Amino acid sequence: MRSVEAEGSMVLEEPPCPSGTALLCLSGVCAGYGNVEVLREVDLEVPPASVVSLLGANGAGKTTLLRVASGLLKPTRGIVSLFGTDVTAHKPYQRANVGLCHIPEGRGIFPALSVRENLELSVPLRTRAVDLERALAAFPILAGRMRQVAGSMSGGEQQMLALARAYLCDPRIVLLDEVSMGLAPIVVDQIFESIRHLADLGISLLIVEQYLSRALELSNYVYLIDHGRITFAGRPESLDEGSILHSYLGVDSGGQDKGAGDGKEP
Ligand SMILES: Nc1ncnc2c1ncn2[C@@H]1O[C@H](COP(=O)(O)OP(=O)(O)OP(=O)(O)O)[C@@H](O)[C@H]1O
Ligand SMILES: [Mg+2]
Repeated sequence: MRSVEAEGSMVLEEPPCPSGTALLCLSGVCAGYGNVEVLREVDLEVPPASVVSLLGANGAGKTTLLRVASGLLKPTRGIVSLFGTDVTAHKPYQRANVGLCHIPEGRGIFPALSVRENLELSVPLRTRAVDLERALAAFPILAGRMRQVAGSMSGGEQQMLALARAYLCDPRIVLLDEVSMGLAPIVVDQIFESIRHLADLGISLLIVEQYLSRALELSNYVYLIDHGRITFAGRPESLDEGSILHSYLGVDSGGQDKGAGDGKEP
């Protein structure tokens, strides 16, 4: 049992999985940019076949945490383990090759390349055959756009292209950074359906989302991060929206989403 205290209140009641079984484990991680420390002693675990949400205000360090997990940013202290191996010193491509897929904030697609080229580039070296069928079955709209330049597609279509990578990489764990950002409600519905589909396939997910209620609905476990520190870790049902969401995310107690009116509108 671990406990965390931040500003005198938060308690981390139980770890999400027995020690040593997490697919992804961050332990005592500190990280930042230059002299600016962003993550402070972060402990976080993603168990097998689970959905874990990482929630927090703008600038709290969510993207930074995902970048440390995928190897895009080196921690200044602490350990990152993937599938039971210490990968702190491993490069992003090494982590991708063992089954970690990071869909970054801002999509991470190549706008000047065609949809097909983008998809083909997503296939990691360890995968010999390029089997696009699985991704196209998940996002049929892409099938008719294979020759289109990715940057000329709508925001929602580009996000589907970004998410299609998760089907091509054959990952064991996917990190999703605000994949619904800036999309129309109907597209957000499709994006969340595809996230649920990935979870149904048994792929573990670590998701950063602006739609709190939707994220909580999907999640087995939730972490709140505030100024680079984990301030809550537990089951979604343990979250007291009135105090915790208000304190840490600056939203009203009626279950509203960050910056949103009813959980449907961004
Ligand atoms: N490349 C960078 N160089 C310097 N500072 C950075 C850099 N990237 C992020 N930061 C700073 O690190 C802090 C955490 O940023 P981060 O992007 O991780 O937050 P976030 O929780 O993802 O926020 P948002 O909800 O707005 O996406 C912020 O203060 C941000 O200004
Ligand atoms: Mg971010």
